[in-house]
Parts: sequence; C-alpha cells; structure tokens
Amino acid sequence: MDINLKTYLSQAHQRGELSGDLEYLLLEIAKTCQIIGYNVNRGGLLGLLGAQGKVNVQGEEQKQLDVVANDIMLQQLSDLGSVAAVASEEMQNCIANPNRQGRYLLVFDPLDGSSNIDINMSVGTIFSILPTPSGKKKIEDSDFLQPGKQQLAAGFCLFGPSTMLVLTYKKGVSCFVLNPENEQFVLFKDQLKIPKDTQEFAINSSNRRHWHLPIQKYIDDLLAGSNGERDKDFNMRWIASMVAEIYRVLSRGGIFMYPCDKRKSSLKGRLRLLYEGNPMALIVEEAGGSASTGQMRILDVEPQSLHDRVAVLMGSKHEVAVCDDYHRRYQE
Ligand code: F6P
Repeated sequence: MDINLKTYLSQAHQRGELSGDLEYLLLEIAKTCQIIGYNVNRGGLLGLLGAQGKVNVQGEEQKQLDVVANDIMLQQLSDLGSVAAVASEEMQNCIANPNRQGRYLLVFDPLDGSSNIDINMSVGTIFSILPTPSGKKKIEDSDFLQPGKQQLAAGFCLFGPSTMLVLTYKKGVSCFVLNPENEQFVLFKDQLKIPKDTQEFAINSSNRRHWHLPIQKYIDDLLAGSNGERDKDFNMRWIASMVAEIYRVLSRGGIFMYPCDKRKSSLKGRLRLLYEGNPMALIVEEAGGSASTGQMRILDVEPQSLHDRVAVLMGSKHEVAVCDDYHRRYQE
C-alpha cells in the first residue's frame, strides 16, 4: 500500500527520529511547496511568466514567480510557532517571528533555476532548517551563520513532469511523488543511495576560460574519455536548474559542479551557501555522496554573511574524490 508523507513522518516521529515540531514543520513546508507548484504549473494562465522588472539582493533579474514563491513561503511559514525567523535568497535580511521563540530557523530558495521558468523547464524550491541559537531574545542575520553540518533537516521540491519532494532529517534521504488526483505526497523511494562511481558530469562549460587550472584539467580529462588518463568515456548534462541536476544525481549518480572562477562575481563561487550549497550538500552526503568546494567539505564552511557564495562539486563519492585530487595536484 502507498505510504503518504504524513504517515511516513508520523512513523519516524514514533521511532524517535524527529521531534513533533519538526514533523509538523516538514508537513507545512510540503503543503507550501504544493501551493508554489500550483502557481508554477499555471504560470502562463495566471499571467505570471516573465520578468518582474526588478533585481533581487543578488543583483539578478527577478521573475514574477520568484516573488510569488517568496511571498507564499512567508505567508505560510514565517509565523508558525516553531519558526523563530526565516531567511530567503530573495530577501536582504532575515525576518524574525515577532510573536514567538521557535526552535528553528528556516532558510529557503523559493524558486531555484528561475532562468528556466519562461521556457517551461524544471524549477524547484529548496529549504534548510537550522537550530535557533539558545538564549536569544531577538533573532538577527548573524544567527543564521552556522556551518551546514548543523542543519537539522533539508530538502527540495522539484516541479518537473511530476512534482517530487526530496527530504532528509539526517536519517537518510527519502523521495515522495505528488499524486495530483488526491494532492498527497506518496513515498516513491526510501533511503536513496547515490552510486559511488559515475560516467556523467554537469558543468556550464561556457565558463571554461574563467576556470582555475584544477577544473580545466579535470574537465579536459573527462572530455578526453577513453583516449585520456581516465580511460573511460563520460557523458555530459546541463539543465541549469540545480534542483533538477541534484535529482538526477540522486537517481543515477553523477557529479554536478559550479566551481568558483576568476571573475570578480564568482571568486567564492556562483551558488549560495545557505540557500543552495548547504541543503544540497546535506542531502547528497546523507545519500552516500560527497560535497566539496575543491578545498574542503561544504558542510564545514563557516558562513560570513547571509548571501555568501560557495564553490560546489557534489555527487558520486569516488568522482568527487577524483576532482578533489585534481585540486591538490594542480594548485595555482
Ligand atoms: O541560482 C542558481 C542556478 O539557477 C542553479 O539552479 C543552476 O545550477 C545555475 O544557476 C545555472 O547557472 P547558469 O546560468 O550559469 O547555467
């Protein structure tokens, strides 16, 4: 018989794997993702496709759906009793819950991959849950600056041909599919495991001229395939939606990379540590993969500010180790 998300989480709670508060919060996040999915799905019909005419705190053009998804997250989740404050990729500063002293800080990227909205390709919502530092009366941005290993839970919802919810509360990774007939998330795969080896990689290679030497050498050797030192052929994919790329890596292995490079805007990387790097790194590690910056484990990086960027190399364990090795061999 199908197990729905509510039953799955309630059983996990009974086994002592997660608190009642966290169980409730994860269910509320899942409901919120359904509402965002509804809007993404009907974007054209609701007149929500296209740019909003403003840039976000990252200086990037905001799409109407970015703003709508952010508003939905705030409306649904920011004043729950267990949530002390929320931080979003789309907002300059965190918003503290004025009425409560919740146990959790909620971090989210309301709509990842938004350059794909107008072309009807997969996008998604990413979230991460951190503990509220103890003894705090007023929550500030600095309370969110915890390394990713301190996350209590993380997940993402992928709005693709089907809507998939992937989550971890540090007891492995499970994946649920939305049944559109009864609007319930149903367990699709439990204890997902990323194959340790892979022959598939993902990188935006139009940035090659900006890359540092280790990545240039590593990608050159992947492209050389069975004619080069790796002695095996590799396939490449680039969807330009991290949610979709990580879902692929979770499903069949692979290495997904957005390295830092020599451009001023990407000296520390392009993707955001709190909203993208950390939650995805936790999911990937919980599924038996690795997540590295090339220099260190992503989950050990100490954030300096809410919107820090990070270099990302994540996926199949053995392949990430090879890529890390290129970083040691070809230091500039
Ligand atoms: O916000 C980040 C993001 O949209 C990721 O989801 C995706 O992996 C990346 O940017 C795509 O980058 P590019 O535009 O360089 O292909």
